Amino acid sequence: MSEKPILVTCGLPYTNGPCHIGHLRTYVPADFYVRYLRKKGEEVVFVCGSDNHGTPIVVSAEAEKISPREMSERYHAHFDATFQRMLVNFDHFGMTDDPTNHSRTRQIVEALVEHGFVYSKIIKQSYCTKCRRFLPDRYVEGTCPHCGTQARGDECDQGCGRHLEPGEIKDPVCMVCKTRAELRDQEHYFFKLSEFKEFLLGYLDGLSGTLNARNYAIGWVKEELHDWCITRTLDWGVKFPGRDDLVVYVWVDAPIGYISFTEEWAKKTGNDWKTLWCGENRVTHFIGGDIIYHHCIFWPALLEGAGYGTPHSIVASGMVKVDDHKFSKSRGYVVWTNDDYLDKGLSPDYLRYYLLSYTNHTKDLNFSWKVFQERVNNELVNTLGNFVYRSLYFAHKEFGGIPDLPARKEIFEQIARSFASVDTAVQDYDFKIAVDEMMALAAFGNNYIQTSAPWKLIKSDREAARQVVKDCLVLVRALALLLEPVLPGKAREIWEMIGSQGSLDLCTLDEALQNLRPGTLPAPRPLFPKLEDEFIGEMDALLRKRVEEAGQKNKKTETVSIEEFSRLDIRTGTIVTAEPVPKSSKLLKLQVNIGEETRQIVAGIAPFYTPEDLIGTTAVVVVNLQPAKIFGVESRGMLLAAGDRASLLVPKIEVPPGTKIR
Ligand code: 2FM
Ligand code: ZN
Repeated sequence: MSEKPILVTCGLPYTNGPCHIGHLRTYVPADFYVRYLRKKGEEVVFVCGSDNHGTPIVVSAEAEKISPREMSERYHAHFDATFQRMLVNFDHFGMTDDPTNHSRTRQIVEALVEHGFVYSKIIKQSYCTKCRRFLPDRYVEGTCPHCGTQARGDECDQGCGRHLEPGEIKDPVCMVCKTRAELRDQEHYFFKLSEFKEFLLGYLDGLSGTLNARNYAIGWVKEELHDWCITRTLDWGVKFPGRDDLVVYVWVDAPIGYISFTEEWAKKTGNDWKTLWCGENRVTHFIGGDIIYHHCIFWPALLEGAGYGTPHSIVASGMVKVDDHKFSKSRGYVVWTNDDYLDKGLSPDYLRYYLLSYTNHTKDLNFSWKVFQERVNNELVNTLGNFVYRSLYFAHKEFGGIPDLPARKEIFEQIARSFASVDTAVQDYDFKIAVDEMMALAAFGNNYIQTSAPWKLIKSDREAARQVVKDCLVLVRALALLLEPVLPGKAREIWEMIGSQGSLDLCTLDEALQNLRPGTLPAPRPLFPKLEDEFIGEMDALLRKRVEEAGQKNKKTETVSIEEFSRLDIRTGTIVTAEPVPKSSKLLKLQVNIGEETRQIVAGIAPFYTPEDLIGTTAVVVVNLQPAKIFGVESRGMLLAAGDRASLLVPKIEVPPGTKIR
């Protein structure tokens, strides 16, 4: 191949907390892309690593009373293992705190100094008189000067998303002790980003990747470009050359990690990293939509200033929502990759499928257990799984394996058409459309076997039934090859069941258009277990419990006024009937007399009470809670209970139902 290999990278995860679905939103599509290119015969190198420096890590390590290095090693190992469990296979996964990155960062900073793109300046920096230290980045909170939203020192993460320079945040407060910070003079180093305006406009004009990345960045560059403070007063990080009291800003050494990890990979494999990074290249960065500014503006300017090639493509994903709420660890709207998913025995392939096919790559993706269940059961289990199983089962049962005759020309034509549609979509980074096209081929197969009904046909025309079976097996093989980037685990199992020779990883899509050699086949096993209602209900309940607990925890720090409290209508209610909610082991449906009326309320108390225990009990009910559907059953109110065993609150002196609690 005359062209250079394509280098694909993913935004580096900070080593200060476990992997969650928000991370996977970027890594799974990147892995899909790499696997797909390899299926087309492209040479691809896929590197990533962990982001160890900066205040996100220092603040978390301080809270846990461990060193930032220890914290980084812990989460580095965690991410490495989790990505492998999710079948996201990097060729190398490095650490930004390792020596390769320290030395590459120093070399790049020295090159920038030498080329005249760095100057020093005295600036006003937030300082906490109580903690007696300067407050870099996440050590300071305040108001965004651009949009007025509550922001942290280096980024308006809840508002306009803009990067904030040291000293820029309004009304700064120390994040540790909440004291109002004062501004003090300090010498820092700046990168002359403003000199790169023309370069960036030209660069962005030709940038490949998704349009969100390019268009946002062009808008920002046209607005205004400020020089960029590239040093911080911290001990942890890459020392700024010649200054032992300063480290470089994490957003300098983190993307340089992309180069260092390529160097480490090249050393390991005997390749030359420079060909991948210098001059015209095919570097493709997959990133989250929240770090477009850093990748489309800072990073290409740094590379240009230091004499490196600039990235060819930037592919930015939309964000993740959980149950239609903005993803938020502190508010409980999170799905943890290990605890909530893999450790429950769920297939990595199911989640990969959901993440790739839910919506377009640049749009927001909503995760809900219910929709997850529907998509998996309707599409993977009923369409793909059904087609593969029926084809293999019938081939084994009636013909002992793969019949010795060519598949029909129309079948190969259908496969070729699907490949072409998938390819166009992947070229456009439209992974949803690509996966939909793949599944359309599975639906075609399912429809073909259903309408041809070889189980009937065999009674009247055995030869015609053989033909249908051969056609189906050729489709099954094409699906294994085509779907491997989406479902690497399941595709391999299909591949093995169809007795295909050689490793699936090494086969390219062309193979699907060759004749399928005859041979014996073992009895197949079903590959796609259905997701049961009970299990999904439990997962959903776990999520709701987490949100509720997070809400209570967040409330602990807040006070409510008597007016706010009086908006709650809380009354005594007598339980008239109680019965289990079908398919749930936790929920009971209650009719509760609250004085003026009898209300239906669903409560998660089945593990602790039988209906007989409850009937006749007078408990305490929040009456004006917004009605909700729980497990499809309407609930109009909430029964109050204490502790993990749901001890119901009952009045000490008897009162009639409907008595107001004050
Ligand atoms: O935003 C983040 O989570 C950063 N750790 C991403 C760094 S990507 C790259 F530039 F290194
Ligand atoms: Zn302080």
